[in-house]
Amino acid sequence: MKSLNNENLSLNISTKIYMKNRLLLESKEYLKVFKNQNCLIVLDDYIKNNKNKLNYIKKSFKFIKKKTIIFNDKFEPTFTNLKEIKKNINNKKKKYGLIIVVGGGSTIDIGKGLSVIINYNGNIEKLQGVNKFNFNTIPVITIPSIFGSGAEITPSAVFINEKKKVKGGINSELVQPKICLIDPYFSLSNDYKQQIICSFDSLVHSIESFSSTIGNNFTKQMAMLGCYYVLQGIKILKNNDLEGLNKIAEGSLYSIISLLHSEQNITGASSYQLALYFGYKHAHCGASFLHKSIELTSSKNSKFLKELLLFLKNKKIINRPVASDLVKLLKKIKKTFKISDIKLNEKEIKFLVPKIKNMKMLDFSPFKYSKNDISYFLKNE
Ligand SMILES: [Fe+2]
Repeated sequence: MKSLNNENLSLNISTKIYMKNRLLLESKEYLKVFKNQNCLIVLDDYIKNNKNKLNYIKKSFKFIKKKTIIFNDKFEPTFTNLKEIKKNINNKKKKYGLIIVVGGGSTIDIGKGLSVIINYNGNIEKLQGVNKFNFNTIPVITIPSIFGSGAEITPSAVFINEKKKVKGGINSELVQPKICLIDPYFSLSNDYKQQIICSFDSLVHSIESFSSTIGNNFTKQMAMLGCYYVLQGIKILKNNDLEGLNKIAEGSLYSIISLLHSEQNITGASSYQLALYFGYKHAHCGASFLHKSIELTSSKNSKFLKELLLFLKNKKIINRPVASDLVKLLKKIKKTFKISDIKLNEKEIKFLVPKIKNMKMLDFSPFKYSKNDISYFLKNE
C-alpha cells in the first residue's frame, strides 16, 4: 500500500510467506485448509520437460486429491493469452476452489489473472486498473521458481492490452496471493544467466524505490536490505548455489515490499513501454538499463542514493560509497554472466521518449525528467 495521502507510514503485506529449503515437500502443513478443494495447478512450461522438478511438484501436492495441471509458455502475457487459457480450462467444466501457480513472474501473473476471470463472463480488459471489480476471486498460492519479480506477493496481475497498447495490472487486494511458499532447493538450476537477469528485476525494485518521494523509513530499510541480499546472493551463487539462491530469494522479497509501499523510477517505467512496443522482457530491461538510472539519479543530486551506497560499502559489497562503484559492479556481473544490454537505435529512442515521459510512475521520482534525460537513459553505448 503506497502512502499516497501523505501518511507517515502505511503497511500492507497480507500474503503469508514461508521460506525454507525443501519446503514444498511439507506443503500439506501449510495448505491444510485447502486440501479438499478442486485445485488448478498452473506450472511454468519448462517444468513439463524437467522430470525431476515435475515429480517434485507431483510428490509435494499428492495430498490434494482433486487437481488439474496446466502449463504456461507465455512471457509478458496479453489478455488474448489469458482468454485462450481460460477457454481451455472452462472446456473441462470444473469449479475450482484453489489455484496453485509455480513459475516465474509471467506464469504467476497468469495464475492470478485466472483467479479473477475463470468465473467471470464480462469484458476482461475492463478489469485493468485499480479496484475495478468487487466479486470473489479463487484463492491463489504462489511458488516462485525463479526470484526477482516479486509477483508472488503483489496484489496485481499484469497483462498487455494489445488493442489499447497498455501494459498494466489488474490491481486489487482480491488478487493478492493468500500464501507464498518459497523453496530455493526447488529453484536450483544451471541456468545462472536467467537467474541473474531475474535478480536484476529485484535490484530495480530496491534501488529505484529507495529514492522515491513517497518512500519512508520502512521502505528505505527494506530497499537497502533487498539490494544487499540480492548482490550478496549473486556474489556467492556459482560457488554455493543453494545459499546464493536463498539470499536472492530473500532480497527479492524485501525489494518488492519496498516497491509495494513506494514506487520505482525510470527503469521500471521504461520496461513497460519496451515490453509493449518492442517485446523486450521486463527483467532484461532492468538488467540493461539500471546502471543508467543510477548514473542519472546520482548526477542530479548525490544525496538521493547516498545512504544506500554507504550501507553497501559498510557491507563490503562496494569499495567506496559512490554511484560509480555500484555501476561498475553491475557491469561486472553482466559481463561474468554474459548478459548483453538492449541497444536501441535513434528512431526507437525518439519514439519512446514522450511515451515514457508521460508515465505516472515518474511522478514520484526525486527529480523531474527532461526529454534529454530520458534520451540519455535509453542510450546504451
Ligand atoms: Fe519489476
